[in-house]
Amino acid sequence: MTVPQPFQYQGSKRALAPLILQYLPVITTRLVEPFCGSAALSIATAARGRAKEFWLNDFNAPLAQLLSLIINSPKKLGKSYKELWRADHEDAMEHYYQVRESFNRTKDPQLLLYLLARCVKGAVRYNGEGLFNQSPDKRRLGTQPETMKANIKAISILLRGKTIVTSLSYENVLANVREEDVVYMDPPYQGVCGERDSRYFSGISFDDFVAQLGVLNLKNIRYLVSYDGRSGNRSYGKPLPTKLHLTLVELEAGRSSQATLLGRDEMTVESLYLSPALAEELEVYPTMHRKHRDEQMQLMETSVPYGKAKISKRVS
Ligand SMILES: C[S@@+](CC[C@H](N)C(=O)[O-])C[C@H]1O[C@@H](n2cnc3c(N)ncnc32)[C@H](O)[C@@H]1O
Repeated sequence: MTVPQPFQYQGSKRALAPLILQYLPVITTRLVEPFCGSAALSIATAARGRAKEFWLNDFNAPLAQLLSLIINSPKKLGKSYKELWRADHEDAMEHYYQVRESFNRTKDPQLLLYLLARCVKGAVRYNGEGLFNQSPDKRRLGTQPETMKANIKAISILLRGKTIVTSLSYENVLANVREEDVVYMDPPYQGVCGERDSRYFSGISFDDFVAQLGVLNLKNIRYLVSYDGRSGNRSYGKPLPTKLHLTLVELEAGRSSQATLLGRDEMTVESLYLSPALAEELEVYPTMHRKHRDEQMQLMETSVPYGKAKISKRVS
């Protein structure tokens, strides 16, 4: 199945979406994504007809507005992208910097789409003042207007009339979720020292996030969280605490390209946590989480090919 993608986005769950979808109820009334980014999971869910409604939210307002334009005004957006992309060819670099300057002044989401398509590796970067400061990709021209138009149209068909888009901080979304909702959270990576992450517009506090998940547990809300992970014997991100009684599903995300460059063959594994209410409904049963390096290595050597999930439970 080819699932359309609106734009490249750092940390997009596009590749992992088919695996994550295995941990969603067969039919969800409403899927809520408080940290939606490029909305990869919602788009994949809609493409398979697995949810009736969607609530997309991202604190980055121009990004949320861009998603709203993709869904509700695909023709207008496709046209403005084509004009910006065509204007590119006189002096491509100079044009990019002008669009970037204009975006930082106006926060016009149509300009953001062009920047996302044209910036280095499709990887957004923000400075301390929240200004977009990524450079243009000198080797690639960005998505062709016809391809962009087709992607936008396909996403609009999937989500129009059944999606609300907001730009709130995630706590305000969680305060308004209903019992029939399923919430998928993919928060920005928070360094252990609390440093700012230039990949995203904003970061979140680990302790506040844990407290919010505790409240969702009390309300019996079904939710999933992508959080920490590991590559080889190195972990990244801080695991969510056992006091939340989450069921951990480890997803093999593929071989680490950085490790491969250094001559090591390492699998990257991402954590997906299921809330107690969701794990119980789906009957995802606990097994011991393997902690030791040798066990991890063995786990990887005997592991099923890419695309299979291992299920384990953090034991309190
Ligand atoms: C890891 S990305 C999500 C990627 C997404 N799953 C995808 O597939 O593209 C995290 C997102 O959280 C957003 N964000 C950061 N702080 C936030 C907050 N306090 N409330 C809501 N969204 C926030 C960022 O703008 C970023 O788009």
